[in-house]
Amino acid sequence: MLRLTVLAAFMAGCSSFLVPPVLLRPPIMETSKGALHMTQNNDDMADSDYSGLSDGPVDRRTLLTAIPATVVAGVLGFAVAGSAPEKALARATPKAAPAGTNVVVLGGNGFVGSKVCELLVEAGATVTSVSRSGSKPDKWAAGQSWVDKVSWTKGDPTAGDLSAVFGKAAAVISCVGVIGGSDEEMEKGNGDVNVQAAKQAASGKAGRFVYVSVSHLVPEAFGGAAFKGYFDGKSRAEEAIAKSFPSTGVLIKPTFIYGGDSFGLTPPRVSDGYGSGIDALLSSGPIRAIAGISPGLIKVALSPPVSRDNVALACVAGALGRLQGTKFDGADEINAAASKA
Ligand SMILES: NC(=O)c1ccc[n+]([C@@H]2O[C@H](COP(=O)([O-])OP(=O)(O)OC[C@H]3O[C@@H](n4cnc5c(N)ncnc54)[C@H](OP(=O)(O)O)[C@@H]3O)[C@@H](O)[C@H]2O)c1
Repeated sequence: MLRLTVLAAFMAGCSSFLVPPVLLRPPIMETSKGALHMTQNNDDMADSDYSGLSDGPVDRRTLLTAIPATVVAGVLGFAVAGSAPEKALARATPKAAPAGTNVVVLGGNGFVGSKVCELLVEAGATVTSVSRSGSKPDKWAAGQSWVDKVSWTKGDPTAGDLSAVFGKAAAVISCVGVIGGSDEEMEKGNGDVNVQAAKQAASGKAGRFVYVSVSHLVPEAFGGAAFKGYFDGKSRAEEAIAKSFPSTGVLIKPTFIYGGDSFGLTPPRVSDGYGSGIDALLSSGPIRAIAGISPGLIKVALSPPVSRDNVALACVAGALGRLQGTKFDGADEINAAASKA
């Protein structure tokens, strides 16, 4: 039970807007877009692996204040998302890449990675995705024509040396991370894999390294109470990238990313239509003012999420050398970086 409570707190902490769908958990949600099918039903949830969620001390007062606050924010957002006219989703395309630009996307078949690959193809880059399965992103881009323009290859930096693959690239973009499972699995899935990727990209002489990490607000909010392996892994990855690519490593650090057209729990997913309504709500002045003076989980819960499109655009801008700086933390900085793509 405590594990589920901690999971709820994480969802609340990362995204107040995820709480109503999780609490309501209907098998099918009606929205102004029509029927959106939940990706996990209640039986699936019972079977989900929450073994990585700490049974350790979580400040009860934090939970007791964070959850109601975030539920209220989420319900408000739910109402906004449901009643407001459908917000037109920004459809930005990056400017053309210089001729002959090669980019390797580690985890290019995932939620964020597939959007990064799509935008790079639109920019005219030569794109290689490397992942353990080497599969196409059937979950995120089934039947889309750009998919055939990417080279989908198998590889894992913790299982072999990918210097030669990375070294052909003007930039390597890592969209690899793991949430859930044991602390050890999260430490490896966020830490070891990206530490190795950065070392191998540097030894192959890749031009730049871009990594989708996590906002500093999220570990601060948890104060070491849960997801230790996740945060420790991210932190080791960031250090390795800063060491191997001191001026050409770029960290994109979101709190929560929304996108696609379905909801999910593990990992947490919120659709574009719903997420953009919450984005608008939490970006408003009064909510920002409250967030600014709120502690821990509440601050994270009231911070605007960022769209998958803008995270991907920020990655592309970083990979193509269009950003000043090496760290883009939170929705505002990521959205600004996205506009440079
Ligand atoms: N989604 C969010 O709300 C959110 C919020 C903050 C930060 N982030 C961060 O954003 C990044 C992208 O997240 P996401 O939601 O797009 O993740 P995702 O959908 O799980 O995609 C990750 C991809 O990485 C590949 N992968 C995993 N381990 C690998 C390994 N050892 N070697 C090679 N490939 C590997 C997987 O493909 P295979 O199974 O084929 O290997 C998978 O498709 C992660 O670093 C995540 O921590 C996400």
